[in-house]
Amino acid sequence: MTITIRPTQEEDCDWVTGILIDNWASNIVVTRGISYEADRLPGLIAEIGGKPVGLLTYSIKKSELEIITMNALEKGKGVGTALIDEVEKIAKRNECHRIWLITTNDNIDAIRFYQRRGFEIAKVHRYAIEESRKLKPQLPSVGKYGIPIRDEIEMERNLEE
Ligand SMILES: CC(C)(COP(=O)(O)OP(=O)(O)OC[C@H]1O[C@@H](n2cnc3c(N)ncnc32)[C@H](O)[C@@H]1OP(=O)(O)O)[C@@H](O)C(=O)NCCC(=O)NCCS
Repeated sequence: MTITIRPTQEEDCDWVTGILIDNWASNIVVTRGISYEADRLPGLIAEIGGKPVGLLTYSIKKSELEIITMNALEKGKGVGTALIDEVEKIAKRNECHRIWLITTNDNIDAIRFYQRRGFEIAKVHRYAIEESRKLKPQLPSVGKYGIPIRDEIEMERNLEE
């Protein structure tokens, strides 16, 4: 089973917006108090046999690449890993010194996944989701495993080592 990764294009826009709404309740994603229209960001689509099975969106600022969203539509097949491998190449091509992302305290699966791929927990922004909710009221109060969503967990992988 071969997973191919390609950059998002203009004609993917409706599909990208749909995936964001299905998975994040909106095309708006808030990290560190900044609101992103994630469907307007650069992105990567993972495909198996021509069928889209994953989406990653990102933003590059000040020589840092931030993963804004990542979704594997078929889990446990290497889609997430392939997306991370490709975004790392993009970060290096753009001379970024780190890749980072925000996830929430309830997202144990993502925290596990990223740590297995060399990311470390860089910071815990306690109660940051209270501020995010002002920008994105759709954010639920209870998340995965019935855990209250409170904190932003900042994870990073240093590319300079
Ligand atoms: C987090 C997430 C992106 C991971 O994606 P994924 O495609 O399931 O990840 P992978 O398949 O690459 O890896 C998951 C496990 O499957 C295993 N796996 C990968 N390919 C495999 C294969 N062909 N056969 C069997 N197992 C496989 C991997 O070994 C991995 O286990 P490990 O982490 O212990 O090494 C996905 O769970 C997801 O979309 N979560 C919801 C959204 C989210 O939380 N996003 C992250 C916050 S932005």
